[in-house]
Amino acid sequence: MYNFIKSILFLWSPEKAHHLTMRLLSLVYKLPGGQWILKKLFCYSNEKTKVNIAGITLKNGVGLAAGFDKDAKYIDELACLGFGFIEIGTLTPKAQPGNEKPRLFRLQKDEALINRMGFNNGGVDAAVERLKKVKSDIIIGGNIGKNKLTPNEEAFKDYAYCFEKLYNHVHYFVVNVSSPNTPGLRELQEKPALKKILTGLKTMRTGYIKDGQVSKPVFLKIAPDLTHSQLDDIIDLALEINLDGLVATNTTIDRTELLTSESELTQIGNGGLSGKPLKKSSDEVLKYLANGLQNRVPIMGVGGIHSGQDALNKIKLGASAIQIYTGFIYEGPSIIKRLVKAIS
Ligand SMILES: Cc1cc2nc3c(=O)[nH]c(=O)nc-3n(C[C@H](O)[C@H](O)[C@H](O)COP(=O)(O)O)c2cc1C
Repeated sequence: MYNFIKSILFLWSPEKAHHLTMRLLSLVYKLPGGQWILKKLFCYSNEKTKVNIAGITLKNGVGLAAGFDKDAKYIDELACLGFGFIEIGTLTPKAQPGNEKPRLFRLQKDEALINRMGFNNGGVDAAVERLKKVKSDIIIGGNIGKNKLTPNEEAFKDYAYCFEKLYNHVHYFVVNVSSPNTPGLRELQEKPALKKILTGLKTMRTGYIKDGQVSKPVFLKIAPDLTHSQLDDIIDLALEINLDGLVATNTTIDRTELLTSESELTQIGNGGLSGKPLKKSSDEVLKYLANGLQNRVPIMGVGGIHSGQDALNKIKLGASAIQIYTGFIYEGPSIIKRLVKAIS
């Protein structure tokens, strides 16, 4: 059934197809009995599927990765598809248009995507207004970043602004320093810059705890293209500052071992690659981090999950929960239930 729907959706450009699908989902959600039907078809959560990570209890360990619902527009609808948690963002302090279109491409032979969206989002304040209206009790993560025009030396202020605005409206945070589509952003993965951002947020959080609020975990999302020495720095820092968790990984800039032709890749140009070809490097990073951290810092595994076996493999390599994006596009919403069953 989804293959038929996909063949029609894939007639549109990826970005148009995304907006069309979300509007259709929203329409079904609003129909009388729509929510019931969606839940009946797609949800699978019970006592056995529950997962604890960084002090949060998830209905199940399969989440929607950042970038899909950047502006928190469809949380209630997406929650009806059976996700255990949804990560919104990346949100920045000010709204920004992102890069010029086209900026999202399908690599159908590879079951992959290349995107250079560039943190297009309506700004954190607008997202907060939408979050106030969410009805679902699903766990929500706030993935935060810096505006394109903010210099790296000032980046910590952007993260702090988003953190403060979102604090009462999300259950956990993800500091995104790993998108390849914001110039210079990945330089923030170097230890001193990271330390400044993460310790700054932790200090802010201490202030909230005094006000009687619950402590919200802060995760760090990293790229799959880091060297072992850079990963060692991340491990050291995570242990040194008692980081709550890591998200491994974002998209890759690597283009090796693809079935898509060189000329097509040249035509597409820059961007982050996600989906099946990302799995190998993403799994390697996950394994390396898990070995170094020895269960002292939990990890969410993301990158190239298209089957129950892929999901289970992430758990075996050391992930406590997983997230999907590209696999959701290629396999459709029924993948969520399959993944939940595979890992629980
Ligand atoms: C179109 C698109 C937009 C994305 N936007 C973001 C983003 O804003 N922030 C972020 O942290 N990750 C973003 N990602 C990365 C995903 O969250 C995920 O880490 C990556 O796609 C690997 O997972 P996958 O192979 O299941 O797609 C984006 C991915 C895609 C395909």
